[in-house]
Amino acid sequence: MKKKNLIIFGTRPEAIKMAPLVKEFKKHNATFETKVCITAQHREMLDQVLSFFEITPDFDLDLMKPNQNLYTLTADIITNLKSVLEEFKPDYVYVHGDTTTTMAASIAAFYSGAKVCHVEAGLRTFNKLSPFPEEINRTITGRIADYHFAPTLTSQQNLLRENIKEDSILVTGNSVIDALKFSSEKVISKTFLDIEIESLKGLVDESKKIILVTGHRRENHGQGFINICKALKQLAVENSNIQIIYPVHLNPNVQKPVYELLDNIDNISLINPLSYPAFVWLMTKSYFIITDSGGVQEEAPSLGKPVLVMRDTTERPEAVEAGTVVIVGTNTEKIVQQATKLLNNQNFYNSMGMLHNPYGDGTACEKIVQFIKKL
Ligand code: UD1
Ligand code: UDP
Repeated sequence: MKKKNLIIFGTRPEAIKMAPLVKEFKKHNATFETKVCITAQHREMLDQVLSFFEITPDFDLDLMKPNQNLYTLTADIITNLKSVLEEFKPDYVYVHGDTTTTMAASIAAFYSGAKVCHVEAGLRTFNKLSPFPEEINRTITGRIADYHFAPTLTSQQNLLRENIKEDSILVTGNSVIDALKFSSEKVISKTFLDIEIESLKGLVDESKKIILVTGHRRENHGQGFINICKALKQLAVENSNIQIIYPVHLNPNVQKPVYELLDNIDNISLINPLSYPAFVWLMTKSYFIITDSGGVQEEAPSLGKPVLVMRDTTERPEAVEAGTVVIVGTNTEKIVQQATKLLNNQNFYNSMGMLHNPYGDGTACEKIVQFIKKL
């Protein structure tokens, strides 16, 4: 009898990092029956990823609501997963990372009796308010999970310290590197044409240094985003040789301050969230990146791009230790100061811009499938 897998995800980053796992399991159809369930905690930003990776979900809970809150989202995910789990009866349920989908789906999967497999397990800041609510989401998921796929030795150590059994943990690297590899190969193939990349070519001013910006964290909503926008405006005004390109997250708590404070500034381009290949293309064109994103912190080092992280903590210490990521928080002055240093001090730039791969070699999903095969 085939082992039954249900892969559940809901947001853009989970989709990017789970897509290679869906593809890898589908290569092993003789051993596994694999189905995909999306909560659609995100809608447009999730659909962009599904379309690029050519994944058609078997179950779509279609849960996103405008400006949704954590209470109803959590309850809706658990309630709506019941019938999916009862209909398909998976042996293994795969969840990713630390979103509300991750935490709620692990609880539902545990109720169903399936084994819970946590991809990107063991990331911790040890501060329950940063990132909020992700630190608690992943800690709860770690407590529930039967198998833990840790991206790095640091994340493995975090799990061991929480008394997770060693033989239930596998260090795999982060599947974002699998996704990055897939995307890069597809983009350079002769048959691939991405209309977003084509239109970006018209937007990017090659004579300028491109600063790529993204941001969305809940703990930065409000004053944090106001400070971030002030910093970006100051940088744009003080440096006519830069172009800031900012694909703005669709969360209304982000859209409002960003469009109110940064619209109509000559060298700031506010654009819609990009498809994954277009975003990767833009990362390669950028001089450096300012972000609060988890995934971007992992991708940038393997593209040799310095990153300023607009957070007070990170669960990804590897690139900070290697010197390619600097934590700047949401302090306007600090963001401006570090960005200006990167623009004007070539030695500092070179020390941050080195190419390295602390987050894996693109074989995370292969390792996960082989591990499950042996169970
Ligand atoms: C969520 C995750 C966060 C992850 C981030 C990735 C939680 C609590 N947060 O945060 O961990 O890092 O996704 O981006 O799980 N929206 C749209 N269209 C979309 C996506 C979002 O309109 O395709 C808007 C909706 O109004 C939605 C709101 O954004 O209600 C917030 O979405 P939500 O998933 O709750 O929070 P994020 O900030 O996106
Ligand atoms: N990304 C994308 N389009 C964009 C911005 C980001 O495809 O316009 C990708 C990026 O390459 C990374 C992921 O989205 O893989 C990060 O998502 P996000 O920052 O929303 O979430 P986080 O990683 O912080 O959970």
